[in-house]
Amino acid sequence: MRRFVVSVLSAAAFAVSVSALPPAASASEGAHLEKQKWSWSGLFGSYDQAALKRGFQVYNEVCANCHSLKLVAYRNLAEIGFGEDEIKAIAGVKELEDGPNDQGEMFTRFAKASDHFVPPFKNDQAARVANGGALPPDLSLITKARLNGPDYVYNLLLGYKDTPPADVTLMPGMSYNAVFPGSQIGMPPQIFDGLVTYADGTKATPEQITKDVVTFLNWAAEPELNARHGMGAKTLIFLLVLTALFYALKRQIWSDVH
Ligand code: HEC
Repeated sequence: MRRFVVSVLSAAAFAVSVSALPPAASASEGAHLEKQKWSWSGLFGSYDQAALKRGFQVYNEVCANCHSLKLVAYRNLAEIGFGEDEIKAIAGVKELEDGPNDQGEMFTRFAKASDHFVPPFKNDQAARVANGGALPPDLSLITKARLNGPDYVYNLLLGYKDTPPADVTLMPGMSYNAVFPGSQIGMPPQIFDGLVTYADGTKATPEQITKDVVTFLNWAAEPELNARHGMGAKTLIFLLVLTALFYALKRQIWSDVH
């Protein structure tokens, strides 16, 4: 018995010491991330359709000037509530290179619903030249590729400071961002009050714009989340009902014995 008590106590002490350890180094080198309440987090969370549409607007009007989103096709926008004609209109203004044709020539054409999002630059070199040497990463999986992705991207976009601390000398073309590892980033500040005019009349504050675009980017990385969470909820309800049935059955079967 004493042995048992000792081992339980030491297990408890171990658990406490482990939980007191600092968390593993984060992508942002420990910069404090202000946690947001995301509608899709938790067991039963789901995407807010209106936020997804607004977030697409921000991506399309702002981020798409520098960042590609190669894993998403225009027709996928139907999942966040865009109609067929709207999707055709969104794709139809983007040009891409296709071919070769019968003559063996490459040609340019306008994008169709079945095409993937057209990247803003022909290749990585062209993207770097236009961005002072820095490469804007593809954003399809960015919320998965960074630790605490949604909170990280949210804080990053709002993490710019006009004047860096006195001991920091900015390299040419860089901006000071307290959240980016190393604090110097090749992406200029993007989020401003009234940056976009939302079709649904929502007020475009910096926080609102950022929350919406992060919601959209998380959908891009995890489009099946709503279906998965829905299935989880149904499964739980099913199991609860099954448990109740089995319990009732057990009571009936054993009623003679008791
Ligand atoms: C003018 C071009 C430009 C625009 C517009 C732009 N970015 Fe960037 N972005 C960049 C560049 C360049 C980098 C790479 C920075 C570096 O490595 O120093 C970058 C990096 C990033 C990163 C990666 C940070 C990391 O941890 O590596 C994220 C996330 C990001 N941008 C999100 C966005 C979002 C969201 C928008 C739209 C609201 C946006 N960007 C608009 C140029 C741009």
